[in-house]
Amino acid sequence: MSDRYQGFVSTPIGKQLTKILGLPAPTRLERWTEGAPLVDGLVVLGGEGRLAETLPTTLDGLGIASTTTLEDGVRAKALVFDATGITDTSGLVALQEFFTPLMRRLETCPRVVVIGTPPEQRTGSERVAQRALEGFTRSLGKEIGRGGAVQLVYVAPAVDGAIASTLAFLLSPKSAYVSGQVVRIGAHGAPTAATATDEVADWTRPLAGKVALVTGASRGIGEEIARVLHRDGATVVGVDVPQAASELQTLMGELDGDHLVLDITAKDAPQRIAHHLREHHSGVDVVVHNAGITRDKKLANMAEDRWRSVVAVNLTAPELITRELLDQGVVNAGGRIVGVASIAGIAGNVGQTNYATSKAGVIGLVDSLRDELPDGITVNAVAPGFIITQMTAAVPFATREVGQRLNAMAQGGLPVDVAETIAWLAGAGSGAVNGNVVRVCGQMMLGA
Ligand SMILES: NC(=O)c1ccc[n+]([C@@H]2O[C@H](COP(=O)([O-])OP(=O)(O)OC[C@H]3O[C@@H](n4cnc5c(N)ncnc54)[C@H](O)[C@@H]3O)[C@@H](O)[C@H]2O)c1
Repeated sequence: MSDRYQGFVSTPIGKQLTKILGLPAPTRLERWTEGAPLVDGLVVLGGEGRLAETLPTTLDGLGIASTTTLEDGVRAKALVFDATGITDTSGLVALQEFFTPLMRRLETCPRVVVIGTPPEQRTGSERVAQRALEGFTRSLGKEIGRGGAVQLVYVAPAVDGAIASTLAFLLSPKSAYVSGQVVRIGAHGAPTAATATDEVADWTRPLAGKVALVTGASRGIGEEIARVLHRDGATVVGVDVPQAASELQTLMGELDGDHLVLDITAKDAPQRIAHHLREHHSGVDVVVHNAGITRDKKLANMAEDRWRSVVAVNLTAPELITRELLDQGVVNAGGRIVGVASIAGIAGNVGQTNYATSKAGVIGLVDSLRDELPDGITVNAVAPGFIITQMTAAVPFATREVGQRLNAMAQGGLPVDVAETIAWLAGAGSGAVNGNVVRVCGQMMLGA
């Protein structure tokens, strides 16, 4: 599976034609490779807020070089602005003062992170000003270009010391296809002492010793999730249907993992999964609900089985499995539950009333659980946009082209982009990252 248009525009004739015709010329996105530094370049820090002292030491701990002044002739790979000190609208000009002079001094695939305080934890003028940051970051994401990504991270003061894993992800090429997102840290649930800091023994293997369940793991996005979680140190237990048993077995063999062949919609699937994890792995630390199907039809032509099967696989099964694992205490303390939603569940899509219902329900599952999970367990979801897989290869050509180009990066994402996002949410240092729905969509123009 590849993006032929992107391949074409990087040829000499393609470059010329896109220039003459004014066609989109997507930048080849940088992606992280094992052993590479998290940030290949310099991070410039700005703003005056609560995190002024924390930020340089946090970055230093991640092996990321930072400065507050960029010398002449030097370019920045990333900009991090601490906006937590902005308490009224007059203070917002600090954004323009910091960013404008630096915008022409960025390297390719740059990263921008603005840090604020969750507006709902503030009142009056400060709340207004903190909420305003969203418009700034979402717009900058759409105009930065050259494969750049821009995010807003709202950090609750109680967890100021727990931002390392999020910075490691958002500043590195691991977040290649994530842009225009608003992430909340410490804003939901009750962070315990354990989650208020984010000490991780080895940042190259943040899942060492952990067990990760991945449904739909035999191919596509699920396969990549299994590979990335394994790379980060986890023992992966892959689940897939009997038709995919041999691919699943081969992959799990390659990853020194374990496999469980079952249909997640089977009546006894939640119990069988819970039993397997308890008997063979002393519980589970990471649960990724990735298995999913589409059965597209406009509602006027929707047969009942298309509706039922999509909701059963994409929503009812993740909900029942999650509840069973929690009720039986199979999810270990500090566990991570990650749902795979979709942009369709946020913006809606023609022919996908069934699918969008199921995927919006996955977001509902996050909302319903985020404030009530015990023992530092978190729940989050990713919402992929257009990811190049067998699922999207089946989409008709014209729709596929539109789907791939209508985002700030003018290209589709890769399964690894979703997998890296899940690895961040699942990571040992992400205990305060709870209740988020993070879009992996290249900042799609549709749906906010
Ligand atoms: N590809 C995209 O652009 C995109 C966009 C948004 C969301 N998603 C979501 O990402 C997830 C993975 O998508 P993909 O593109 O890799 O799809 P895919 O069809 O390539 O893989 C889905 C996997 O789930 C498995 N599966 C399906 N039904 C199952 C069941 N009842 N029990 C167990 N396993 C089952 C399949 O056998 C397959 O291995 C899905 O939830 C999908 O809705 C994908």
